[in-house]
Amino acid sequence: MNLQVSSFEDYKKTYDYSVKEPEKFWAEIAENFQWKKKWDTVLNWNFKEPAIKWFEGAKLNITENCLDRHLDTIGDKPAIIWEPNDPEESHRVLTYKQLHDKVCQFAVVLKNNGIQKGDRICIYMPMIPELAIAVLACARIGAIHSVVFGGFSAQSIADRIQDASCNLVITADGGFRGGKDIPLKSVIDDALVQCPSVKKVIVVTRSRTPVSMIKGRDVWWEDEIKKVETMGNPECPAEEMDAEDMLFILYTSGSTGKPKGVVHTCGGYMVYTGYTFSNVFQYQPGEIYFCTADIGWITGHSYIVYGPLSQGATTVLFEGVPTWPNASRFWDIVEKHKVNILYTAPTAIRSLMGFGLDPLKGKDLSSLKKLGSVGEPINEEAWHWFDEHIGNKECPIVDTWWQTETGGIMISPIADVTPTKPGYATLPLPGIQPILVDENGKELEGNDVSGNLCIKFPWPGMLRTTYGDHERCRTTYFATYENLYFTGDGCLRDADGYYRITGRVDDVLNVSGHRIGTAEVENAINMHSSVVESAVVGFPHDIKGQGVYAYVVCPEHHSDEELTRKDIIMTVSRIIGPIAKPDKIQFVSGLPKTRSGKIMRRILRKIAEGDTSNLGDTSTLLDPGVVDEIKIGSEKMK
Ligand code: WT7
Repeated sequence: MNLQVSSFEDYKKTYDYSVKEPEKFWAEIAENFQWKKKWDTVLNWNFKEPAIKWFEGAKLNITENCLDRHLDTIGDKPAIIWEPNDPEESHRVLTYKQLHDKVCQFAVVLKNNGIQKGDRICIYMPMIPELAIAVLACARIGAIHSVVFGGFSAQSIADRIQDASCNLVITADGGFRGGKDIPLKSVIDDALVQCPSVKKVIVVTRSRTPVSMIKGRDVWWEDEIKKVETMGNPECPAEEMDAEDMLFILYTSGSTGKPKGVVHTCGGYMVYTGYTFSNVFQYQPGEIYFCTADIGWITGHSYIVYGPLSQGATTVLFEGVPTWPNASRFWDIVEKHKVNILYTAPTAIRSLMGFGLDPLKGKDLSSLKKLGSVGEPINEEAWHWFDEHIGNKECPIVDTWWQTETGGIMISPIADVTPTKPGYATLPLPGIQPILVDENGKELEGNDVSGNLCIKFPWPGMLRTTYGDHERCRTTYFATYENLYFTGDGCLRDADGYYRITGRVDDVLNVSGHRIGTAEVENAINMHSSVVESAVVGFPHDIKGQGVYAYVVCPEHHSDEELTRKDIIMTVSRIIGPIAKPDKIQFVSGLPKTRSGKIMRRILRKIAEGDTSNLGDTSTLLDPGVVDEIKIGSEKMK
């Protein structure tokens, strides 16, 4: 079966087939990939344990699909176009042949440093080609990568390294993002104080920031490559992997506890990301595709690296940020590399909208054919701005809903196929069976309903477990509603059967498209020496979508409230990372609690949203007076 549907009629036909004959459907999709050995069984599953196995018995290596199989046909075509942070620096192009060679070379470096199949490797790098090379080199030899986004602190990295007992870290001396130099190696040095499992650190040169290199532990990427060259660049055949062998771990926040390591496996993830990339964007050979995400998040894994490369696409990798050195940066990249497909986030669109139309003046965006959005609900104003000013009303916008756990896009228009509607992720992709349920798990049938979004049948890209703690995977995703995968999102299905995601229904915030657990931020705030307790909720933020609002009980703020606020922010930055910093901190004398001691978050959310007219029933509160105090305090903060 062709990966791409050809019309809306074809979509409907394919969708029906995928629901009636899911195993046949996915087997036919999987035929489009290169397997060392085909599967014995397409699917084996139950959502109870859960135990989900796709393509059991099959053997493959995802890098053969991303690299080797393209060498004869498009070996000299660009695989990666790298655009540096600073527009004055030259860009780099890696053809499929060059990328293949570099991946093999670095895979040998990993082996030379004692890495074997199944070892876990932490990657903490800036957005440079070496990051993609490191990821693919791990996959080449069957090592499991765990990429940590550059905005996380030493403590967060240490937690992740310990959770997976990583043996090796790959990092850079430093990285550039906008006007900032980020001292990556120094952060790693701080993290490693707590990580005895790490025996080696490989450091690539990027910023030339002075770094400490510890004898016996730290080696330079460039020196290790030279050693491989003196070995005569030995071949690095791709390790034969079982379809259900782990490919990578990626940590993500939930409503409780520390981040969980979401596990994806080789076969299903390859099929799902390749399929959805090809179909949703209707990728045509030769098109230049630019996803503005960071490889530190799932969007980068699935739609900068694995999905596009398995489809022989040209993927643009951008080191910088949309607003530096000015708000034309994205548009200059589109013009310079003649980008045809632009996949970005609502938060970036909103932030660029704020600069008006001047940054667009004289920019040639005529190469653009298709646009995409991901990470959070896109508000109508941003949708229309994207449509009119970037797409010139001629480009379909695919509003793609999915999650770290789903591996790839789940509910989304298919470019030029599905009629779009602002604010709507529209319809499920073939193979995806969403259902809406009420709090009791009762299915809400028909249209014009809203409830909690679940998925009732497995798909190849879904998570298999959470690393080292399968029970946590079960309770988080499969125990809320029997026999359903629960997404944590609220959703409505309108009269046309179109889906609109309304946001998280749990205690998870979505700040600039990044998932942040409120419990995690509270724990970090509570580490500050004068804080007694705290409660964190989200509030509507013009650019970030949601901001972090913290109510903090801190009886002794040493008379200098402002300084204490800064100290608390610094504490959160240290414990989690700058991405989780509270936008607002309100000091309160107590939190609204029920008699059983539960914090009434509903009330705190309403106050943070500025909607204090109807706080609902507060009579069950231990101390109803505290609500009035908080209300008055929050009004003063505006
Ligand atoms: C959460 C997942 C998917 C990659 C980036 C985020 C929200 C994501 C949309 C969208 C409305 C969206 C959901 C989801 N979300 N895409 N198109 N419309 N909401 O991955 O960090 O795992 O976050 O992001 O709330 O549950 P993530």
